[in-house]
Parts: sequence; C-alpha cells; structure tokens
Amino acid sequence: MPALTDTFTMSNGLHIPRIGFGTWQIPSGAEAYDATKVALDAGYRHIDTALAYGNEASVGKAVRDSGVPRDEVFITTKLPAEIKTAAGARSAFEESSRNLDLGVVDLYLIHAPWPWSAIGTDHREGNVEVWKVFEELYDAGKTRSIGVSNFEVPDLENLLANTDVVPHANQIRWFIGNTQDATTAFDRDHDILTEGYSPLATGGLLENAEIRDIAAKYDKSVAQVAIRYLLEKDVLPLPKSTTPSRIAQNAEVDFVLSAEDIAALDALEGTTD
Ligand code: A2P
Repeated sequence: MPALTDTFTMSNGLHIPRIGFGTWQIPSGAEAYDATKVALDAGYRHIDTALAYGNEASVGKAVRDSGVPRDEVFITTKLPAEIKTAAGARSAFEESSRNLDLGVVDLYLIHAPWPWSAIGTDHREGNVEVWKVFEELYDAGKTRSIGVSNFEVPDLENLLANTDVVPHANQIRWFIGNTQDATTAFDRDHDILTEGYSPLATGGLLENAEIRDIAAKYDKSVAQVAIRYLLEKDVLPLPKSTTPSRIAQNAEVDFVLSAEDIAALDALEGTTD
C-alpha cells in the first residue's frame, strides 16, 4: 500500500512514512499493545505516542514483538506539556526511552507550548530552555529528529529567534474544516513538516453529509476521504483506531480527490468543529 510506505522527507533528510498510527487515548496494556500490533500487521510503519499517553511501554513491546525490523519503523514520542525545565526534559526523555525500549527515538516533540491546565499561557523562556535540551539530544544522536506540537506562529517564531535547530515537524490538530492555515503556511515557509492529529476530528466528521456525498463518489468511507484530504495538502495524517478493520481501512487511501472536491471540502472551513 503506497500510502503506508511512501514518505515525506524532513528538512534534515530523514524520511518519515506518510501516514502514522496515532495512539492518543488508547489505554496502556492489551489495548495499546494489540492496536499497535494490528497496525504493524496492516503495514503501518510509523507509530505516534507520548509519555503523557501512558502507553509507551505497550507500544514499544508491540514493536519489538512484531518481527518488523526496528529500522523499518518510525517512532515518535513527546515531552509532557507541563515540563518546561532542562532537567525535567532530560529526565523525561530518559523515561520515554526506557519505556519504549527501542533504542534511538525517531522524532521527539514538545507536546505543547503550555501546560494543558493553562492553555495559552506564556512559556517562551521555558520552551527555549527545553528546546536547547532537544538540540543536545539530537546532536548526541539519541533522537533522529526533533519537533513541536500544538505550536502556533508566535510559539514557532520564539524558537526560531532564540535557538539553532529549526523544528523538523509541528504536529497540530488538523482536519477538514480546521486546517490551521496560518500555522500550516508558516510551517511550509520554514520547511517544517506539518503533521495532523485527529484527522477525523476524533470522530466528529463521520456523520458529515457533505463529506459523505463526496466519499460516495469514490466508493470510499468518510474516514478515508478525511485522511486523503490531509495527504492532498501535504499534511501527515495520524488516524487513531482500536478497531482492526478501521485500522486497515484508514490506510487504504490510494485514490486522488478531484480539484473540485478538494475545493468543496476547503469550503467547509469553520463548520466542522
Ligand atoms: P475506534 O477507535 O473505536 O475505531 P481521530 O483519528 O480523529 O482521533 O478519530 C478517532 C476516532 O474515530 C475514534 O473514536 C475511532 O474509533 C474512530 N474511527 C477511526 N477510524 C474510523 C473509521 N475508519 N470509521 C469510523 N470510525 C473511525
């Protein structure tokens, strides 16, 4: 399935499989282990987790047990949003590495520019402090790329003005109707890969009549059109499911949306959230 094996190339030359398997809200233990195994069996080669998800150990074990060579799987994990000190970042990275037990991490992200309990608060200095640790980890070869998540333009400008390595990726909430145009354009202009989490709006798009009508024309599901839309925009989708048939279906997106249908989906901006 080309969608699973095709890659984006990040600014440092690292290849990243074009679709990732998201594991947010998948509980640790059997659920995360089984879902990761099913995804790998279905051909996914890119798994996205986070220390805050609590499921890194299950994800790591599933990858180790899968029989897929480690260097064929791309693993992303994240520094908890609450941690804004250098010492905290160093110890959280070690904890994630221990949990995953997969050797070098492929992509390490700052989970958010602010703690979840205080969205929008100013942590410019803390983000710079933490990013300098990310640069150390990258230079030391402990992670093959570094990036951010939930960063908007001012958050990115702060890092670019005060640190050396431009983030390789920015993972943001991105789906039909919520395309974060300013951040996505900034990412593109600075060669930062945009990754989209919740490409189905955590299920919110599934009943959308306009998308359903378009999906019917291609004999595809709403989920498949929603995921394909990100690929058409060069945004890396991270669909999440614990249902084996859906995990497989979400990767069957090797079709092309017409310019007219993309325009119709663009016109849903602001209506789906
Ligand atoms: P489930 O895990 O029970 O399969 P998002 O990727 O935007 O976060 O959306 C995830 C939600 O969408 C989950 O509730 C998941 O349910 C559901 N979902 C994922 N893929 C599909 C699909 N192909 N068809 C219907 N629902 C899906």
